[in-house]
Amino acid sequence: MKVVETAAELRALRAGLPGPVGFVPTMGALHDGHATLVKRARAQTRSVVTSLFVNPTQFGPGEDYDGYPRNRERDLEIFASSGADVVFVPAVDEIYPSDALTTVDPGPIGQVLEGERRPGHFKGVATVVTKLFAIVRPDQAFFGEKDAQQLRIIRRLASDLRFGVEIVGVATVRAADGLALSSRNIYLSKDERNQAPVLFRALRHAQDLFQAGERNGDVLRSAITATVGKSRLVSLEYVSVADSSTLAELSTIDREALVSLAARLGRTRLIDNMTLPQGLSPAGTGRD
Ligand code: PAJ
Repeated sequence: MKVVETAAELRALRAGLPGPVGFVPTMGALHDGHATLVKRARAQTRSVVTSLFVNPTQFGPGEDYDGYPRNRERDLEIFASSGADVVFVPAVDEIYPSDALTTVDPGPIGQVLEGERRPGHFKGVATVVTKLFAIVRPDQAFFGEKDAQQLRIIRRLASDLRFGVEIVGVATVRAADGLALSSRNIYLSKDERNQAPVLFRALRHAQDLFQAGERNGDVLRSAITATVGKSRLVSLEYVSVADSSTLAELSTIDREALVSLAARLGRTRLIDNMTLPQGLSPAGTGRD
């Protein structure tokens, strides 16, 4: 596995990689969710490029950019054992030279849900992913359904900007008790960690209601709010039942829906989601 820090080195290596080339961008603090993306890329493409870059522009004021867990040696071991061929670990000024002016705005789909609560977040994500795609020029790129809105924004980005990259969505990897794996789970206290699986239980409850025939969006939203409300340490920030591709809120679930939520446990903010009907992946591949 080769580790490179500059775009020029990455481009030189890329030229010699047998295709198709798969790409898995990350911010490090790797867990089994990330490892699953790399393994999927390994299984599906000939060469696997990954990146490790804590992207400052996607963190808002008061968010955890400075405190974001960083452990390069451990991350490199996980990349290696999961099958990465190349890891790109750029410094901040390699991606954001001091004279850079251009940013990428994902438009309305970036302004609801997470985008509404984290202004500028998806502009930061879209800008860094555009730069990484331009440097790596992957044939396929792998993103987790854990970050459902991000996945949809990247699909649009790849399609709208004509990158010719196929975007592959990978199912959320969870702990045995249902909690979605996240780099931020390490911030949870023992009591918070014990209560955190209520988020998944609430989504499962909504899924059960849907399977029993419930199609009213408000009934599902209320059921989730009531379930989460029973856990003292978990405070729900929002719950959404939206059209899975436009992310517009649904009053009646008459098409594929994305049920998503964000919650705070002390100083930790967690997100989770589920699509209904379950098992349907987001439409479109983003390839042009
Ligand atoms: P990061 O949070 O490190 O996540 C990297 C990738 O891992 C994302 O595609 C994310 O959806 C996926 N992932 C995280 N937890 C997962 C889980 N439990 N199961 C499956 N996949 C999971 O997302 C980012 O970084 C950044 O925004 C990035 C795209 C790298 C741009 O900076």
